[in-house]
Amino acid sequence: MSDWNHRHIIDLSTFSEEDYESVLELANRFRSIPTTGSRKLPALQGKLVVTLFFEPSTRTRSSFELAARSLSADVQSFSPSTSSLSKGETLLDTARTYVAMGADVLIVRHGSTNVPAQLAKALEKAGEQTAVLNGGDGLHSHPSQGLLDLYTLARYFSPNQPSPKALKKKKIVIVGDILHSRVARSNLWALTGCGADVILCGPPSLLPESFENFVDAPPPGQQIDLIPKRGKIQIKRTLEEALPGADAIMTLRLQKERMRQNLITNLYSYHNNYGINHERIKLCKKKVPVLHPGPVNRGVEMSSDLLDDKSISLVEEQVKNGIATRMALLYLIAAKDTTNQSK
Ligand code: NCD
Repeated sequence: MSDWNHRHIIDLSTFSEEDYESVLELANRFRSIPTTGSRKLPALQGKLVVTLFFEPSTRTRSSFELAARSLSADVQSFSPSTSSLSKGETLLDTARTYVAMGADVLIVRHGSTNVPAQLAKALEKAGEQTAVLNGGDGLHSHPSQGLLDLYTLARYFSPNQPSPKALKKKKIVIVGDILHSRVARSNLWALTGCGADVILCGPPSLLPESFENFVDAPPPGQQIDLIPKRGKIQIKRTLEEALPGADAIMTLRLQKERMRQNLITNLYSYHNNYGINHERIKLCKKKVPVLHPGPVNRGVEMSSDLLDDKSISLVEEQVKNGIATRMALLYLIAAKDTTNQSK
């Protein structure tokens, strides 16, 4: 495995091909080892992992906590509603309280873009060694979801060797509310970074034209892109144009809580135009898997019977792979001494 030099994990725009390789290789090892009960791995023994989630979560938080416990870390979770935030404490002071209690890793989810990055910067400035892992910030980034999706696809395409190479030249269609999706943004960096071509599909109100150039400029704060040649991004407005030739379909939840205006007039017509069901996937002309990061609105992004059809839907696989992928991330940032690592 190559050298890992990320002290925090904030965004996949700064990942190299070797970084993707390291995560997938480790995730695959963890996926094959039973780690429940007395069979926990000792890698994070004596480390404290804290989940600071300022937004609701089912999958991400629980799977990070299970991943940390499987590696023998101590786990503490923070709940905004019963904390001193309601008494006026700042987010940074809350985080510093956990750092003072000995937190080695803070996993942070927040509704505003850049909160995990700012926290990481502030802790570094204060001379703290604590690592920050982004559990999803605003519309910006959800790196652990992007990586578990990547691992799920790599496993599907190449079960014996699920490496980033399995994604090369594959055509992945991402359908739905791209505009409000941090999952889509992380997937765009990860998939194009591994050489897949991405077709984005949705109505103009949920998918602005500018997404076609999403990975063209060097990532924010960097002079050059660490990936010399990325896969391409194209926009198609209908599933009839997007699906022929697809190798996999990724659907996204309509993020109604993030929409400032009513961008969708009618859920029924949304399902008619962009919902994925058994009939629609025939447009791909071959058998393809369907992914969704969850939570799913049954009958909106995908039909209920497709979601439950395990020969096509990889949604439960994504959840399983989420634990192994998050074990890999925790291992990479916390199992060894991080004092010489940069961002
Ligand atoms: C996603 C999120 O919170 O960004 N969910 C998740 O982490 N599995 C996507 C969503 O909320 O739709």
